[in-house]
Amino acid sequence: MSKHRIAVIAGDGIGPEVIRVGTTLLETLRDKRGYDLELWPLDLGADRYLRDGTTFPREVADEIRDRCDAVLLGALGDPRVADLKHARDILFGLRFGLDLYCNVRPVVCLHDRLMPLKNKRASDCNFVVFRENTEGIYAGMGGQFKRGTPDEVAINEDINTRKGVERVIRAAFEYAKANGKKRVHMADKSNAMQHAHELWLRVFREVGAEYPNIEAKHLYIDAMCLFVVQDPSQFEVVVTNNLFGDIVTDLGAGLQGGLGMAASANVRPVKSGEKRVPGLFEPVHGSAPPLAGKDVANPFATVLTVGMMLSSLGYPEEERRLTECVREAIAEGACTADVGGKLGTRDAGAFIVERVASLS
Ligand SMILES: NC(=O)c1ccc[n+]([C@@H]2O[C@H](COP(=O)([O-])OP(=O)(O)OC[C@H]3O[C@@H](n4cnc5c(N)ncnc54)[C@H](O)[C@@H]3O)[C@@H](O)[C@H]2O)c1
Repeated sequence: MSKHRIAVIAGDGIGPEVIRVGTTLLETLRDKRGYDLELWPLDLGADRYLRDGTTFPREVADEIRDRCDAVLLGALGDPRVADLKHARDILFGLRFGLDLYCNVRPVVCLHDRLMPLKNKRASDCNFVVFRENTEGIYAGMGGQFKRGTPDEVAINEDINTRKGVERVIRAAFEYAKANGKKRVHMADKSNAMQHAHELWLRVFREVGAEYPNIEAKHLYIDAMCLFVVQDPSQFEVVVTNNLFGDIVTDLGAGLQGGLGMAASANVRPVKSGEKRVPGLFEPVHGSAPPLAGKDVANPFATVLTVGMMLSSLGYPEEERRLTECVREAIAEGACTADVGGKLGTRDAGAFIVERVASLS
């Protein structure tokens, strides 16, 4: 068995185009650097669902859990599947099934040219968001009553457990400690959501007290959105719930050059001695159906995501190299139109693959 087995779900829309860049990169690194990587492509997504009704088979979930080290996913979402059943089954099957409770989303602007804020530079935007990934309002608890009538009621419950809140907050502090960061912000709405978010605030203060060398700062999420736009340089590590993390990282993507530049990892940090759980690595963007099949999607979010995956597999230097290659590509204009270049998905990807391959 290979040292690192990676399940690959290209998915829908632009997913297959950007993931092709990611797998070419991985194959190139395997061949050039001798890394023992095995790719396991999975035929899952809207096409498969529409063909035979399959979304996320139990045996695939088991094999990923037992025999894989990571999952690389493009994006899921197809206008032909109005209720997004396949997307929910696959994404939530992985995130909830593997209990990947940290969605780690770096908000890093790689070049001044991509910084949209007046009088700010790329170096002003460099923080990471820890988004709770298994609870909150996305847990799927709720229901509809008297659907389709004037008396209709629709409820989604916001689930917050002590265990769930504490572990993601602790993960954010541990990350800060391990990476020399001086400050962790927690964003909630405890002024309005006095039950669920009082728990967040209380646990944040308790856990923060265990890290006396790290400043623990609380913000309401609406204020945080304001400050991210006014001065992102004050943020180093941010921890927040599932919904707010989803939204604030799209805001963050706006400071990075757009969704085509935003990478993410869904992980379950384990203590030493515990069995490692495969992480799920995916660009933040969705399947962007209007761009699909046109060779225009920006593959750099996937390149940076592959970097995060390689780092988690024990090759942190590859993440640094890939990030540098993307920075150079942006500087040289070797990129897609969304970030000011003239290249298509394939050529922008090929630029990175060649650059990385040329590094010894
Ligand atoms: N994790 C996921 O798989 C995921 C995440 C978000 C959305 N979705 C799904 O994707 C579908 C489309 O959703 P949406 O339009 O709200 O979000 P989206 O991320 O697909 O697109 C939002 C905007 O960003 C642009 N964009 C996204 N990725 C880009 C890239 N790589 N290069 C250049 N531009 C890019 C799009 O053109 C669009 O203008 C929906 O079905 C949604 O449910 C899936």
